[in-house]
Amino acid sequence: MHARRHAFLLAGGILVVLIFSLSKFLQTNFSLPSLTSRSKPSKHIFNPVSSISWDNYLNFTRELDFGNSTALFNSIRAALRQSASDIHPLGVSYFPAVIPRGTLMYHAGSKIPTSFEWLAMDHEFSYSFGLRLPSYGRKSLQKHRDDPGRGPGKGKIPGGKNSTHKNPDGPPRGPPRGPPGLVGSQKMLTYRATRDLNKFLYLDGASAAKTETGEMDTQELLSNVIGQKLNLSSDGEDGGMQERTFAARICEWGKPFGLDGIIRVEVGFEVVLCNFSSPAVELVSALEMVKPNEHLGLPPPTNISKENGWPLDDDGNLVEDKLTDDQMTLLDQEDLWQQVLENFYSVKGFNWLRAGAVHDSGERRIQLDYRHMVTGINRTIINPDPNNRRLLNGQITWDTQLKIVEDLEQAVSLGFDASKSTDWQIAFDEIASKFAPMLKMLSVTLNGTDTSSEDIAIKATAITLNFCLRFKQKEGIVNRYGSDKEFAVYQYVKPLKELVTNSDYLIWSASVNVARKIVDTIYNVNELLLPIVRTHVGEKGATSVEAAEAISKAQRDIDDLIENLGWIELHYRCEQACGLDEICYTPSWGPSPMGMTQPGTTNAGAGTHYDANRQRLVINSDLKCLSLNDLMGNSNRF
Ligand SMILES: *[C@@H]1O[C@H](CO)[C@@H](O)[C@H](O)[C@H]1NC(C)=O
Ligand SMILES: *[C@@H]1O[C@H](CO)[C@@H](O)[C@H](O)[C@H]1NC(C)=O
Ligand SMILES: *[C@@H]1O[C@H](CO)[C@@H](O)[C@H](O)[C@H]1NC(C)=O
Ligand SMILES: *[C@@H]1O[C@H](CO)[C@@H](O)[C@H](O)[C@H]1NC(C)=O
Ligand SMILES: *[C@@H]1O[C@H](CO)[C@@H](O)[C@H](O)[C@H]1NC(C)=O
Ligand SMILES: *[C@@H]1O[C@H](CO)[C@@H](O)[C@H](O)[C@H]1NC(C)=O
Ligand SMILES: *[C@@H]1O[C@H](CO)[C@@H](O)[C@H](O)[C@H]1NC(C)=O
Ligand SMILES: *[C@@H]1O[C@H](CO)[C@@H](O)[C@H](O)[C@H]1NC(C)=O
Ligand SMILES: *[C@@H]1O[C@H](CO)[C@@H](O)[C@H](O)[C@H]1NC(C)=O
Repeated sequence: MHARRHAFLLAGGILVVLIFSLSKFLQTNFSLPSLTSRSKPSKHIFNPVSSISWDNYLNFTRELDFGNSTALFNSIRAALRQSASDIHPLGVSYFPAVIPRGTLMYHAGSKIPTSFEWLAMDHEFSYSFGLRLPSYGRKSLQKHRDDPGRGPGKGKIPGGKNSTHKNPDGPPRGPPRGPPGLVGSQKMLTYRATRDLNKFLYLDGASAAKTETGEMDTQELLSNVIGQKLNLSSDGEDGGMQERTFAARICEWGKPFGLDGIIRVEVGFEVVLCNFSSPAVELVSALEMVKPNEHLGLPPPTNISKENGWPLDDDGNLVEDKLTDDQMTLLDQEDLWQQVLENFYSVKGFNWLRAGAVHDSGERRIQLDYRHMVTGINRTIINPDPNNRRLLNGQITWDTQLKIVEDLEQAVSLGFDASKSTDWQIAFDEIASKFAPMLKMLSVTLNGTDTSSEDIAIKATAITLNFCLRFKQKEGIVNRYGSDKEFAVYQYVKPLKELVTNSDYLIWSASVNVARKIVDTIYNVNELLLPIVRTHVGEKGATSVEAAEAISKAQRDIDDLIENLGWIELHYRCEQACGLDEICYTPSWGPSPMGMTQPGTTNAGAGTHYDANRQRLVINSDLKCLSLNDLMGNSNRF
């Protein structure tokens, strides 16, 4: 009863406001500025591209179906974002990237690299990979069993049992755990770009995961085509160094075009720099890494072996009751040291995770030039579901692969300049940030089971009518300017800059198709439900409708749209606002302080589950706040 009255007042209020604002609006002549007539007229002649405006923009879109449009839209939104790249791990595109002059990058390793090598964008990342960690006491007997970051220890094995994607040597690759006491010195190197490094290819998705589920397909495609083009033998490519082979080939291929290297995501973004001898980078710091145990004045760990008189059984396990008093005292002492060091190690891993999470909103030091983007989207069948597709899908023809590489050669030869490119991520974020809440509110409203159909229709149309009337011209007024649906779409997709390349048109067309589908759906829901409201307020001549049916149709349309858009914010959310001592944790694929989770297995790591339809692990939709305690294994939440 109360709800109905409230709804009636609400609907009445909406109408009053509407009539008031419309009458006010009409006191002045409605005149939209023509978007083209304002710009310099000469541009019209010399650059017809700039003539995209509200009344002709549909003439400039190119054919692209909705599935390809969402695939591209979502790829661009996830680009250079840590969390999004893990949630949508299967990238199918090559993004032209620039690392600006002055940018610092990091490498931890035993020597100063001379060939191609890895650089991390975050020093926490390199440090965590590079620092060798001796174990003391009883812990030292569990050699090599820990993962790189000493997570809660759920028995995840880096590289997987049969993986051919083992870590190539050199940080920030493989977990550098030497045997206790026998670890060589490690250097922590800082490099600086001495000029804009404007010939990088950024590979999207979880492109540094060491997997065989498609995350590395952009690298593999390049490597395969290069192998043929350069007549490279396939010798020595097994043996678990696949990603090193990819890197070697890509750098070899890129030499004539001046390719700087590739950029990938792990926990944090990392660069494969093709030539460390190039004057484009300079070393600005080379530290001999200080081991925390030595810094605390501790002696090296005791070598617990049979030869040294320790009671070990045939499996190498300690036989506790055969320890001498001296051995017991020594072990207890070392166990205490180990406990102290564990705290240090945990924070080290947590820092690395945080450095990754900092880039959930973007790795903004790297810039993208979308004008020369090369993608598999609209070249082959690409499932819009970014957890269930591959670039090397078994159907992509060799010719298509050759064409992709040819397009990359042309693009890299040009060199990139992000300042000349539209920042499509900004444009698409704006679209998604505005529509996502509206669609969610509609979905929740239409799903209201505890209220009447009229109530639902009133609340839902309060949302849709507010949208549609923003673009509505009053009946009977001559209007030669934009209005209604097509104009609504234009408001959201007006290009920020001139469209110049095919890639620009492809990307822009994707946004037109995405925005059009949303606007269509909102208009449809509005038209579907408005008659219910009209009847309710007793408007004469209002059609009587099957209210419940209309509402469930509207609900289906909105929920299908939400599903098909595949926007991360509509499906994934952190359980709560995390504290400053926590991070909103998105699991990643590949080496991590939380262990290595291989998507191709059923061995779900923290925050992931096996999806039988997609036959792989995927990330849970409720993301959790992670604290140091969780990393130290002191809680069972992960
Ligand atoms: C509206 O336009 C008409 C015709 O152009 C003009 O006569 C009238 O003065 C305009 N009214 C206002 C308020 O500008
Ligand atoms: C857009 O295309 C339509 C139909 O092809 C044509 O009638 C119209 O003149 C075009 N508009 C512009 C501004 O080019
Ligand atoms: C691992 O590889 C071996 C040899 O190729 C094969 O026999 C075995 O079945 C594989 N194991 C798994 C779990 O895939
Ligand atoms: C590769 O081999 C083919 C045929 O054997 C030859 O035509 C081509 O020039 C070779 N390319 C390179 C880069 O060596
Ligand atoms: C790296 O750059 C240096 C200096 O420009 C050049 O002499 C060398 O040939 C390059 N090495 C490779 C492998 O491209
Ligand atoms: C431990 O001692 C054994 C036997 O003396 C030796 O073979 C082994 O290399 C030593 N390990 C380390 C890490 O020093
Ligand atoms: C995308 O484009 C490709 C190539 O034109 C086409 O084969 C495919 O059906 C389109 N749609 C999807 C969802 O892949
Ligand atoms: C609709 O509401 C029901 C009951 O509250 C809930 O179980 C269901 O998940 C909701 N559906 C959607 C799409 O939100
Ligand atoms: C997508 O592919 C189709 C079929 O090859 C082509 O006609 C269309 O121009 C492509 N769309 C874009 C935006 O490149």
